[in-house]
Amino acid sequence: MSAPREQFGSRLGFVLAAAGSAVGIGNLVGFPVGAAKNGGGAFLLMYAIFVVAICVPVMIAEMTIGRASQKDPLGALTSLSGRNKGWRLAGWLSIITPFMIAVFYLVITVWIFGYLFESSIGNLDLLADPVTFGNFISGNSIFIYMAGVLAIVYLILQGGVKQGIEKAAKILMPALFIMLLGMVVFVLTRDNAMAGVSFYLVPDFDKINASVINGALSQAFFSLSLGMGIMITYGSYIDKRSNLPSSAKLVALTDTAVAFTAGLMILPAIFSFNPSVNPSELSESSVSMIFSYLPQIFLALQESLGYTGASIVASTFFLLVFFAAITSLVSIFEVPVAALMSEKGIVRKNSLLICGILLVVFALMCAFSFGFFEFFTAFISYGGSDTPKSFFDLVYDVFYDTILPLNGLLICLFVSYKWKTHAFNKELDEGAPDFKGSFLARYVNFALGTFIPLILLVIFANTVALKFFGSALIG
Ligand code: PHE
Repeated sequence: MSAPREQFGSRLGFVLAAAGSAVGIGNLVGFPVGAAKNGGGAFLLMYAIFVVAICVPVMIAEMTIGRASQKDPLGALTSLSGRNKGWRLAGWLSIITPFMIAVFYLVITVWIFGYLFESSIGNLDLLADPVTFGNFISGNSIFIYMAGVLAIVYLILQGGVKQGIEKAAKILMPALFIMLLGMVVFVLTRDNAMAGVSFYLVPDFDKINASVINGALSQAFFSLSLGMGIMITYGSYIDKRSNLPSSAKLVALTDTAVAFTAGLMILPAIFSFNPSVNPSELSESSVSMIFSYLPQIFLALQESLGYTGASIVASTFFLLVFFAAITSLVSIFEVPVAALMSEKGIVRKNSLLICGILLVVFALMCAFSFGFFEFFTAFISYGGSDTPKSFFDLVYDVFYDTILPLNGLLICLFVSYKWKTHAFNKELDEGAPDFKGSFLARYVNFALGTFIPLILLVIFANTVALKFFGSALIG
C-alpha cells in the first residue's frame, strides 16, 4: 500500500503556500510598471475585473480538481476523465509546463540571489553600473549562485508539504509582507514621492487598447499561478473540510493586494530618487527594471542615507524579491516532483533527485544562453524575425507566454464538459455549505463553460500568431 497523501497542517498554511506561489517577481515589479505605463487607475480597474471575473473561477476549478482526485495534475486528469487518452495528454502538458517554467524562473532567481549577495557585501555601486548586468549573467559566478538557490529549494522540498512548503511559506510570506510595508512607508516619506503615486494611480482611459487588455489578462492569469497545475497539486493536499471558494478568494486578494502595494513602492521610488524621469522610458520588462534600473535608483539614495544606508535599502529590496521568487519556485517545482512520486510510486527524496538533475541540465542550457555558447545564445529563429532567439527566449515564449493560456482553457473545458459540472459542484460544496446556490456558484458554473474558455482561446491564438508567425490577429 502506498503512503497516505501528505497534507497541509492548516487552512492558513494552505492559503499562505498558495499565495506564496502567486506572489512573485511579476507582482513586485511587472505589475507596477505595467500599470504605470498602461493607464494607471484604468489598468488597475481592468486588472481587478479580470481577477474576479476570470481568474477566481479558474483557481476554484484547479483547486477542486486537485482535492477531488487527491493527485498531481497528470493523475488527476487521467483518473477524473476515466483514463481518457486525450485528457492524459493534457495532464502531461500540465506537468511539463511548470517544469519548463521552473527552468527559466530558476535562472532569474539565481540572478536575484547574486544581486542580493553583492548588494549586501557593499557592491551596490558595481550593480548600478549599466555594464554589470551583462557581465554578471555571462560570468562564471552565476554557477555558484545557482548551487546556492538549488540547495535552498531542495531543503524546502525535501521537508515535504507540511514541514517544507507550509513551514517555508509561514516564515517567508509574513517576512515579505513586513519588508514590503516597511519599504512602502520609507519610499512614501521621501520628497517627490507623490508624483510617482499619481503617475501610478491617475486613470488614463486613452491608453487602453486591445493589446493592453490582452496583456492585463495574461498578467492576471500568470500572477495567480494558473494554468500550470500548481493549484491542482496544492489542492490535492487539503482536506475535505476546507472551504475552497473562500480559500481561492483569499489567495487572489492577497496576490492582488501585494501587486498593488508593490506599485506604491516602485513608482514613488523612481520619481523620488530620480525626479527627471521620463515615464515613457520606463522599461516594460521586469527583468531590466530589477537588474539595471533599480540599482541605480538605490545608489542615488546615498546622498541622503550614505552608502551603507543605500546598500541596506537595496539589500532589503532584493531580499523581498528573493523570498517572493523562492516560494514561487518551490511551488512550480513541486508539480513535477509530486507527479513523479504518485505516477511512479517513488519516494519524495528520489523524485526530487531525478527532477532536480533534469532541472539542472535545462537550467544550465538556459544560463548558457547569455553568451557562454553560441549554440544556445543563437538557438533558433521564428516569428518572421531575422535575429535568432536564445534557448532561454524559446522556453519563455513557448511555455510562459503560449502554453499557459492553453492549459487554462483545457482546465475550463475539462471541468465543464468532461468531468461535468454536477461532479465538480459536488466536490466544491464539501467544506463550503453556504456556497451552493450562491451567486458566485452560479457564476462560476456558467463562466467556466462559456466565455472564460473563449477568451483564453482568443489569447492563445493571438499569442501563437504574434510570437510564431509575426503578426497579431488582434492588437
Ligand atoms: N505568479 C508568479 C509571479 O507573479 C510567477 C509564477 C509563475 C509563479 C509561474 C509560479 C509559476 O511572479
